[in-house]
Amino acid sequence: MIKDVTEMKKEFNITGVCVPEINYMVDISDKITGIEEMVDKGYCFVISKPRQYGKTTILNELSKKLNSRYVVLFVSFEAVSNKIFENEENFSLGILKLLTDNLRMTPQKDVYEILSRHQEGVKDFDGLSITISEFIDEIKKEVVLIIDEIDKNGNNGVFLKFLSLLRRKYLSKQMGKDITFKSVILAGVYDIKNLSTTIKEEEEEIRFNSPFNIAMDFDIDISFSDKDIETMLSQYVNEEKLTLNVEEMSRKLYEITSGYPYLVSKMAYIMDKKLQKKWDIEGLQEAIDIIISEKNPLFDYIIGIIERNSEIRNILKEIFVDGGIENFTPYVYEKAIIHGILVERDGKLVIHNKIFEGIIFNFLMDRERAQSE
Ligand SMILES: Nc1ncnc2c1ncn2[C@@H]1O[C@H](COP(=O)(O)OP(=O)(O)OP(=O)(O)O)[C@@H](O)[C@H]1O
Ligand SMILES: [Mg+2]
Repeated sequence: MIKDVTEMKKEFNITGVCVPEINYMVDISDKITGIEEMVDKGYCFVISKPRQYGKTTILNELSKKLNSRYVVLFVSFEAVSNKIFENEENFSLGILKLLTDNLRMTPQKDVYEILSRHQEGVKDFDGLSITISEFIDEIKKEVVLIIDEIDKNGNNGVFLKFLSLLRRKYLSKQMGKDITFKSVILAGVYDIKNLSTTIKEEEEEIRFNSPFNIAMDFDIDISFSDKDIETMLSQYVNEEKLTLNVEEMSRKLYEITSGYPYLVSKMAYIMDKKLQKKWDIEGLQEAIDIIISEKNPLFDYIIGIIERNSEIRNILKEIFVDGGIENFTPYVYEKAIIHGILVERDGKLVIHNKIFEGIIFNFLMDRERAQSE
């Protein structure tokens, strides 16, 4: 028999999206409220944050919260085939399929049927545009569109044209001439501005027209402060009936991780599971040593970027020698900042957190040693 999730003991999560019913997690309700306000104002925006930074978790909780007031279409490009980015027809059909599949899984059966009906015969963006308008008109509710993992194929001309379509509809709606989404949220590592710099020459026109220039800046910090981390640890301590100085331990976890969401959960997971709840200074050091010596997809990803990019390697070496770079121009360091390798702190460009410092230092040393042999 499947156990009721409410009976199951919670765990720290180190793989994929976090769900409050089964995971000890940082309370992100303030961050969600902030995003909800942007949606209520009808903004379009891009949440571009590094890998494993809690984007999908936030969007998932956000969509649950928005569901009572809006129809939420929440899809991801993560698992879609590259075929849908080949041309307008494939994209129109592909995105409509994603949207209807998403609605099929929600209790909104009537909404699902309306969208299915309106998409018949769609072959291009004109048809897609009409489907969006007619669907929203018929359901008589405001609709929020969320697309996660836009980097999957975001530098693709067809996707950028789709964004132009959304922009045109949005602007027409403001003039009372069209019906479209209340708000559009895109999420990924790159911002649309960075995506469009890689598109082909024949698509220059789209680039200069900046397909999503209706987007508002997204200024909400989705990483965790020491106070944020306390919300997760106090829940853990209560449920596991531990005596632990939550405030001090949260501060330590923050010092080690600088609030990088995956690293926060990972440290807690190792302390809890691998070190049998050895929540003390020695335990923390052991957990750091374990993390730094292991392989995982996030570290592989980050090391891969450093490996391929000699400019980033040189900057990192400079930082290891000087402790940080002052008076820097962000443009030069953009790539490393986008991926969360470097961050600006107190006017200085530094490595994001102590764990990254450890893995990057080891990598650079081993690399030099291997090359000199
Ligand atoms: N609210 C939270 N509390 C504690 N840990 C969290 C929270 N949100 C995310 N994490 C940690 O970060 C990890 C990644 O979360 P999530 O999949 O939401 O990030 P993401 O930014 O979508 O990642 P990717 O870029 O790989 O898609 C989780 O597995 C968990 O370890
Ligand atoms: Mg994600």
